[in-house]
Amino acid sequence: MRVDILTCLPRLLESPFNDSILKRAQTKGLVEVVVHDLREYATNKHRTTDDYAFGGGAGMVMMIEPIDRCLETLKTQRAYDEVIYMSPDGELFNQSVANELSLRKNMILLCGHYKGVDERVREHLITREISIGNYVLSGGELAAAVVADAIIRLLPGVLNDETSALTDSFQDGLVAPPVYTRPADYRGWKVPEILLSGHEAKINEWKHEKALERTQKRRPGLLDG
Ligand code: ADE
Repeated sequence: MRVDILTCLPRLLESPFNDSILKRAQTKGLVEVVVHDLREYATNKHRTTDDYAFGGGAGMVMMIEPIDRCLETLKTQRAYDEVIYMSPDGELFNQSVANELSLRKNMILLCGHYKGVDERVREHLITREISIGNYVLSGGELAAAVVADAIIRLLPGVLNDETSALTDSFQDGLVAPPVYTRPADYRGWKVPEILLSGHEAKINEWKHEKALERTQKRRPGLLDG
């Protein structure tokens, strides 16, 4: 998989992809993440990527030209399955969207800033818009990092058996059961006896029960239907 991220603030994306699981996925060659600075595609003297809104109003608007030029350059190099604009009013991101996107080969994530992008970008240059929640961030960069993380960890080989995505919350329509580690007794707070028993079948049954209980309590909507 290849993920290209378009931004006017590339430094915001340096650390999420240079540590831990996302870094290892790239080192192993399972994913290529490339961050593009939109300023490099600006055509004016000061390399600006935003301008005042026609008709007035507060806030700057990201210009279409640097975005289009960057997209055109990338599209001559390979075919893209999705060009996604990160936007607070986009389709809400969840595990099932992550699963779907993890099957794509090449995708572009476009990060908005200021008052957003020129509407013509949304009308003509993208395939889809994604929001990570009903709140407004300063820009799409953190949202793009969230989406890329959720997708990349699903790629075969990225996680090992112990961290397998199959046991994640939401993956089987339930939230994950509680987990414990040593010591078995801390200040009198004890780990459930069953987990120390060695009975694999009974332990799995317990985990399923706890997952159901927790889903009922925290995300009852997941159990509908
Ligand atoms: N950009 C600003 N806020 C956002 C959000 N909630 N989701 C995606 N992109 C955004």
